[in-house]
Amino acid sequence: MTGHRRAMGPTLSILVAIIGATLCGAPTHAAKKHWGYHETNLWSTGYPDCKGENQSPIDIKGEEYNPKLGEFKFNGYFKTQTMEFHLTNNGHTAVATLDPRPSLSTQAGGLPGVYIPHSLHFHWGGDRRTGSEHFINGKQYPLEMHLVHYHSSYPNISMAQNQPHGLAVLGVLFEVSETKNKVAEVLFSALSAIKNQHDVTTIKSFDVLSMLPADRPYFYRYQGSLTTPPCYESVVWTVFASPNYISASQMDKLRALMHEGEHGATNLINNYRPLQDIGTRKIYKSFKKLPEKMSLKGAADHVTVMWAVAAAMTVIAFAGAKH
Ligand SMILES: *[C@@H]1O[C@H](CO)[C@@H](O)[C@H](O)[C@H]1NC(C)=O
Ligand SMILES: [Zn+2]
Repeated sequence: MTGHRRAMGPTLSILVAIIGATLCGAPTHAAKKHWGYHETNLWSTGYPDCKGENQSPIDIKGEEYNPKLGEFKFNGYFKTQTMEFHLTNNGHTAVATLDPRPSLSTQAGGLPGVYIPHSLHFHWGGDRRTGSEHFINGKQYPLEMHLVHYHSSYPNISMAQNQPHGLAVLGVLFEVSETKNKVAEVLFSALSAIKNQHDVTTIKSFDVLSMLPADRPYFYRYQGSLTTPPCYESVVWTVFASPNYISASQMDKLRALMHEGEHGATNLINNYRPLQDIGTRKIYKSFKKLPEKMSLKGAADHVTVMWAVAAAMTVIAFAGAKH
């Protein structure tokens, strides 16, 4: 965070955030204490679950292959292409909420039931070296997106958020590439309309599934928590093994968002929680081995590789034609 790094005093910590508390994007009814990313070690004073033993995020390593995980089924997600979303700057992140929520759901992929999508939001850094909440084998990414779902056996996310397996969050890591992510541009271009904390705008025709990486069968799974207060340990976590990508200018649109701090408005950056201990938990993966062509370098590299292959084939075809 820029500007004010000194520890927050009790005066500020009893300030009630108006719509600030988001539970990783979820609405709350009860008034919540103020919290921020420069005082993550103090979260547990107002929110005791934040010092639990099944917290998120974690560094994903030493995972075990679980053949039962299988692949996800995304039901009705094509409808998001003609749905309205509210995009909000809540002071902690930019969150796109599906409103209204028609008959969409995610199941399989080892999930304990059917889950309803609620919203998606982001965590990012002030520069390329930091940003994601989850790490993979010690590597942090510049951006992480969370697609938040709640279990269909609850009437809404508020009722589900503190229940075992109440939430399923799909985490997508992003790399910064030379190429603009065209399908994500609807969302990133709307960020200029929510520059200040509490700003809300509407976006139309947003394809949620296009925000997931192409290699969806390859993912990690573990049991964890909300990565923001109140840190409920209710989340079935999925982190996709393959990153998606966005351009540097799209990344800058996130970094240009502002939020209200102790000494006025500052850039909303570095809104990621530090790594938590894995403890006795196990991390599973849905695959034995990543396919050769899919390095963890991001979609932009695939594009480069594809072009190289296409170019090589053209040369071969041309050479062949000459005979
Ligand atoms: C969620 O559902 C409960 C139980 O039906 C209800 O009391 C509550 O008002 C609902 N909350 C929201 C935010 O819709
Ligand atoms: Zn999150």
